[in-house]
Amino acid sequence: MEALQSVYIPGSRFLPTKRNMRMKAIDSEVQHSIRRIVNNRIKAMKAEEGNYDDLLGVMLESNIKESRAREEILNVLGDQNVDTDGLNQLKVVNMIFYEVLRLYPPFVGIARKADKDITFEGFSLPSGTQIALPIILLHYDEQLWGSDANKFKPERFSEGISKATKNQVIYFPFGWGPRICIGQNFALLEAKIALTMILQKFSFELSQSYVHAPHIVLSLQPQYGARLILHKLQ
Ligand code: HEM
Repeated sequence: MEALQSVYIPGSRFLPTKRNMRMKAIDSEVQHSIRRIVNNRIKAMKAEEGNYDDLLGVMLESNIKESRAREEILNVLGDQNVDTDGLNQLKVVNMIFYEVLRLYPPFVGIARKADKDITFEGFSLPSGTQIALPIILLHYDEQLWGSDANKFKPERFSEGISKATKNQVIYFPFGWGPRICIGQNFALLEAKIALTMILQKFSFELSQSYVHAPHIVLSLQPQYGARLILHKLQ
């Protein structure tokens, strides 16, 4: 109220008046306590004690994941050019891609048609029956993945896909069987090279304009894009 009623003279906030000094003290107290809260959360999350349920948790989590991936990349490759040997050693980066493809499979489902009369698990499917295989529903099923199924947790893939899925066909972002995607190794390799080259030189954060709105136009994609802010590493 006091501030609204007064006339603002440019630069006057830098003068060492009683009010400015008090504002400065409050500001530093607030910053100090925010930093303490954030540091405590980071410590707890690194010890896997914290939860990621609120906005701070989500932001810190993605930051921790990004720095874990970068740590791995810098340990394995440093700032050297990307090569096949190095890429094969990137475990955390793999885990992150697998988890991204679990939560956001570009193709949320695939379809099949019975080419002859089939009986399967007590169901009889006459020739010509259309069968939808809802990839995304299986990827989010809490009975299969646990109560944290809708959380971004690359650690679930720390021992590979077959351990994470307990050898069940419940994870198939690239399809399955004879028509499985022929481009899957290429797609993963390309994504790995791109992410590695970016993380070697930049850190990034989501722009504040980002709105989480996955939607489908042929494939699953962010409706309003996903703008990133890159910071060049020192
Ligand atoms: C993240 C990237 C990709 C995803 C998630 C993906 C996903 C899929 C899926 C789910 C299928 C199976 C469709 C079905 O069974 O009906 C498929 C098939 C196929 N994909 Fe991909 N794909 C990706 C990248 C690529 C790339 C980069 C290429 C080519 C370089 C490619 C080429 C193909 C081809 C040719 C098929 C048909 C295989 C067949 O019917 O025998 N894909 N893909």
